[in-house]
Amino acid sequence: MVTGISRFCRRIFDYYRRHGSIATVRRAVVGMRRTLFSSHMVLFYCDLGEATSASTVPLDRVQVERKTNLSALSPEDLHAVTNFWSQALALQNITERFDKGALLWLIKTDGTLAGYGWTLKGGTMEPHFFPLSQHDVHLFDFHVFPQFRGRGLNPFLVKYILRKLAPEGACRAFIEAAEWNHAQLSSLEKTPFHRLGRARKWLLFGCTTVSWADNGATNLPNSSLHDKVSASMKNPMSRQAG
Ligand SMILES: CC(C)(COP(=O)(O)OP(=O)(O)OC[C@H]1O[C@@H](n2cnc3c(N)ncnc32)[C@H](O)[C@@H]1OP(=O)(O)O)[C@@H](O)C(=O)NCCC(=O)NCCS
Repeated sequence: MVTGISRFCRRIFDYYRRHGSIATVRRAVVGMRRTLFSSHMVLFYCDLGEATSASTVPLDRVQVERKTNLSALSPEDLHAVTNFWSQALALQNITERFDKGALLWLIKTDGTLAGYGWTLKGGTMEPHFFPLSQHDVHLFDFHVFPQFRGRGLNPFLVKYILRKLAPEGACRAFIEAAEWNHAQLSSLEKTPFHRLGRARKWLLFGCTTVSWADNGATNLPNSSLHDKVSASMKNPMSRQAG
């Protein structure tokens, strides 16, 4: 918890150094508004059998690269991926992710990095809304740089990843987006992901508390997943060890 607070403070300080006091206050107000009025995450699920049959229309001059460790990244790509908020924290995050076995997927247009996304098989970097099994894959932290947005790069990357992971032993994929993030929600509508439901979680003293906003798990195609998710939905608040 102390690490979480110190990271949070470092992020605020780095933001202030980069953008100044007015922008930092504005950003804090946006953050507070989102926490108070729009703090649910929309959870999505995909059966990877479906993803292999979904077509991916190739985009002109777009390439995807998969990276398994820090040294596989070129200095330019590493700079672009870490130059977003706090460089030191971003580097620490990336190292932790690779150490845990996560994969970084880079999407490029004409050789220029346009965005990226992460996947982790068999778990999540942070305590999740419900436990994942060893064949589940979590997709997280997708980002398309501002000048490349609105061209369908994010849905292309998500669909590409799903198609690649299916033959490698992954069965189900999960991703989530904040309910205020209309761009990501709209983007995910263009992929084989289905909505599972809306939920909030808090991590307090090593325990994750989850609160579901609605019961969207009834249409799940997979019965074991249905049992797992709907068990936590039956209790408005469910807890698991963090
Ligand atoms: C969310 C995000 C990854 C979407 O990437 P993308 O490649 O632009 O995705 P799409 O092309 O499918 O566009 C999705 C939506 O973005 C919005 N959009 C379109 N052009 C845009 C632009 N120039 N700038 C910002 N948003 C734009 C639109 O709402 C669009 O939906 P629509 O196609 O139904 O109109 C990207 O906006 C982003 O990196 N945002 C910041 C990080 C983030 O929120 N990541 C997701 C959470 S992990």
